[in-house]
Amino acid sequence: MKVIGFIASPRKEGNTAWIVNTILEGAKEQGAETQSWQFSDLDIKPCQGCLGCHKGDRGCVIDDDMQRLYGPLEQADALVLGLPIYMGQMSAQAKIFTDRLFAHITPRFSPYYKAGKAAKKKLTLVFNQGNPDSGMFQSYFDYTKKMFQLLEFDVGEVQVVAGMRNEAAHERQGLHAAMRDVGSSLVSDRFPE
Ligand SMILES: Cc1cc2nc3c(=O)[nH]c(=O)nc-3n(C[C@H](O)[C@H](O)[C@H](O)COP(=O)(O)O)c2cc1C
Repeated sequence: MKVIGFIASPRKEGNTAWIVNTILEGAKEQGAETQSWQFSDLDIKPCQGCLGCHKGDRGCVIDDDMQRLYGPLEQADALVLGLPIYMGQMSAQAKIFTDRLFAHITPRFSPYYKAGKAAKKKLTLVFNQGNPDSGMFQSYFDYTKKMFQLLEFDVGEVQVVAGMRNEAAHERQGLHAAMRDVGSSLVSDRFPE
């Protein structure tokens, strides 16, 4: 099983990176092949709305680092998307990535659909935020889950790590074990719901 993590934070060693890497650690312990990508290392341009991905058979026509991700995205069985909350929403880096999935999920370009497979790719959404109230952005988390479900992902329970204002994720008691469990559940098919 291949599990890919995406770190949608500009801070390479921030909370999002630690959380995603810990989830991947849990998946790896269960035998998964894992890989992680930092959006801060990639130059990904916003979708231009040219619909070039609908016109030919090349997929997205923008020549940037998103092209490095489309292949691994198609190969992966499960994705982990780590999202810091910025102004009550996913970071700009995450939104740009999500818009660029438009080319990937179009049935015409997805080898997934071409192969006629019915199984959906698993997706774990893991938010982290400064505010200590984990329900503060619940309607946004629900909306985001729904949006990715409409994109045909098999989205599990949204994970929220709150209270990251004056504390680093790696210092939070019990968080390492909790995030590792999220990763192992991905592999053992006990998708937390
Ligand atoms: C520009 C900016 C906006 C933020 N907006 C919010 C917010 O609206 N609500 C919140 O709870 N935390 C907010 N935060 C705090 C981050 O979500 C939090 O510190 C998170 O752990 C950062 O992840 P990182 O360490 O991977 O960068 C904001 C942080 C920044 C830099």
